[in-house]
Amino acid sequence: MAGRIPQAFIDQLLDRVDIVDVIDSRLPLRKKGREFAACCPFHDEKTPSFYVSPAKQFYHCFGCGAHGSAIAFLMAYEHLDFREAVRQLAESSGLSLPDDEPGHSDASQRSLAPLFEAVAAAAEWYVRQLREHPERERIHAYLRQRGLDRDTVRHFGIGYAPPGWDNLSGALNRPQSVLEQAGLLVRNEQGRLYDRFRDRLIFPIRDRRGRPIAFGGRTLAGDDGPKYLNSPETPLFHKGRELYGLFEARQANRELDRLLLVEGYMDVVSLARHGIGYAVATLGTATTPPHLEQLFRVVPEVVFCFDGDNAGRQAAWRALETALPLMQDGRQARFILLPQGEDPDTLVQREGAEAFAARIAQAPTLSQYLLRTLTEQTPPESIDSRARLVEQARPLLQRLPAGLFRKLLTDELARIARTEPEAIQAPAARPDSGQRQASRSQRSAANPRQRPSAMRRAITLLLHFPQFSADACPPQEVRALDLPGSDLLADLLSEALTHPNITTAGLLERWRDTPQARTLGQLLRDTPPLDEAGSRREFIDALAALQRQHREQRTQTLLQLADQGQLDESGLAELRALLAGAQ
Ligand code: UTP
Ligand code: MN
Repeated sequence: MAGRIPQAFIDQLLDRVDIVDVIDSRLPLRKKGREFAACCPFHDEKTPSFYVSPAKQFYHCFGCGAHGSAIAFLMAYEHLDFREAVRQLAESSGLSLPDDEPGHSDASQRSLAPLFEAVAAAAEWYVRQLREHPERERIHAYLRQRGLDRDTVRHFGIGYAPPGWDNLSGALNRPQSVLEQAGLLVRNEQGRLYDRFRDRLIFPIRDRRGRPIAFGGRTLAGDDGPKYLNSPETPLFHKGRELYGLFEARQANRELDRLLLVEGYMDVVSLARHGIGYAVATLGTATTPPHLEQLFRVVPEVVFCFDGDNAGRQAAWRALETALPLMQDGRQARFILLPQGEDPDTLVQREGAEAFAARIAQAPTLSQYLLRTLTEQTPPESIDSRARLVEQARPLLQRLPAGLFRKLLTDELARIARTEPEAIQAPAARPDSGQRQASRSQRSAANPRQRPSAMRRAITLLLHFPQFSADACPPQEVRALDLPGSDLLADLLSEALTHPNITTAGLLERWRDTPQARTLGQLLRDTPPLDEAGSRREFIDALAALQRQHREQRTQTLLQLADQGQLDESGLAELRALLAGAQ
């Protein structure tokens, strides 16, 4: 009998598959807002109440309550057991079960081997074309015109895909299906396969180990399709994770202390040509949390480099928001906005490496950039605008992990807004909250359908939005609250914190076959669709309510001890502090 499937493999699998594809290929889905819907396959119905959420990687029927991850769906829909469902999903996404191939520690790599080999062979072939193709002079002239020398071209493995529709399949001598799966060939409507990259300069995208996994191809003519054509998503290549130039940067530098994040292939290559060999680029996508996690795993400092225009500013702000939860103490981010009309490539060519390096050195840090942007938008000139400034900053500060950095930034904002740091930390004051509390308890006394407890609410919201873990107090503090459900909430928090990209489905899978699995499923099922911003506020409020509950409970305990004459020195001090805090 095969052993237990490691959690890391389940994570990898759920990360690799998209539940929308898995379900849609069996049960056609219709887009409905941010989700997809269909008539539920698990009970009889005429109007769709079966929903699939791409963000949560989770399905859910409002009619019959069926719900779960892609694995759970396959189990229910195809009547498979857990292991069979995992195997089927794994096979469809190019992974194989660790136990299926004993003796191979990294079994998943094995089934991907033909793809790696095909992409590597293509990369070599493209490089050879740059040397040997009859048209090479034209390409060399282009490279010269863009200021690239031979060493840089070699360092990045830049190549050339010649014109023509089926060079590659002829040259590589590999099954067409493999080349297609590797994204090298495209299938047209008649089902014919042809070369994806034609008459383009080729930039190989390499993984952490330096293996080419995909390509970017730049037009040379300037009028043939998009300027850059990238490989599609393949089992080897996931755009939202890969960074162009990361391998090359690590190759070129014995020790890296910072990485520069830019927008284009040519920016990375051109900066390297001028001696700034630590630039990387996203691949035509916005900066994602996995991008930033990778970068911060390599270096403590990331410098974001954006165009100075409006779009660039917006991209910079989005990157800042993405970076906030990752800004643990010891990490640093800086922001460069380039002069209008320039990109790092043009700028470093025009002003040279030293001037460019000076821009990096002088770039505002995340905190400076954040405060500067906010105070530019809302100058702290009046009481009203200072209050607005605090309101705008509060959700941003709350995204920062607890630590010295968050504290210092809060202090600085308090100074600017001429208020106390405590006024910023506290959730927006609710002068009527006492009354609301009272009327709520009256209502629930009259109404048997009680409002869910703060604990229930916190757990539910965290299940829906695992990313809120970054806004919560540390798990050990939650555990110490010692309220019913504290341990579960603390466990959920710590799973979500240690796996920052985990989805609802990923969390649920971790509790599979535990006594809490049913409860978690029910909590999820019983919540209507939520909007993220509102839920985040509600989550933070629920945690605050839990802390209040904890204080009340503790006060009661201590008062009772005092009544019985059993309160010692430290208990008395604690009680005094609690009573003082309650006022
Ligand atoms: P840019 O158009 O700014 O590229 O796109 P660039 O690097 O300055 O290109 P050059 O200097 O004209 O050669 C930035 C990045 O956006 C993606 C590519 O990753 C590119 O490097 N992009 C751009 C595409 O994927 N497709 C496109 O058609 C254009
Ligand atoms: Mn450019």
